[in-house]
Amino acid sequence: MEGYEPTIIAFVCNWCTYTAADLAGTSRLIQPANVRMIRMMCTGMVDPKYVIKALLEGADAVLISGCHPGDCHYINGNLKARRRIKLLKEILPRFGFDEGRLKMTWIGASEGIDFAKTIKELVAEVKALGPIETRRQMVL
Ligand code: FES
Repeated sequence: MEGYEPTIIAFVCNWCTYTAADLAGTSRLIQPANVRMIRMMCTGMVDPKYVIKALLEGADAVLISGCHPGDCHYINGNLKARRRIKLLKEILPRFGFDEGRLKMTWIGASEGIDFAKTIKELVAEVKALGPIETRRQMVL
């Protein structure tokens, strides 16, 4: 869809991905402005309800990104998040959402380049998916 600019909600871990996003910014890396970040203390704090609510209320995709396995400041919050995401991807189609609208990544604090690259790729993927069909039907 021409001119379609998706809105992406990113739940990011304070210790890793948020710092990487900050690094990407201070390094002046060019990245799309489609992402609205919500800083969490750990990805393990992201309740699946937050993801569903974001998609139901206007987000085109949700990114959850945190520390690499073994680096979580709360021992295994990121691994718990990964398990929840796997289950969430299975139930998203029941809400009318493609599972590609939910992505999880590990991005460490020093990986500003990876953060910018992830955002660029995700925006391109969501643009290819187009607007959420059920939402478009509600507008028509
Ligand atoms: S503290 Fe970063 S994912 Fe848990």
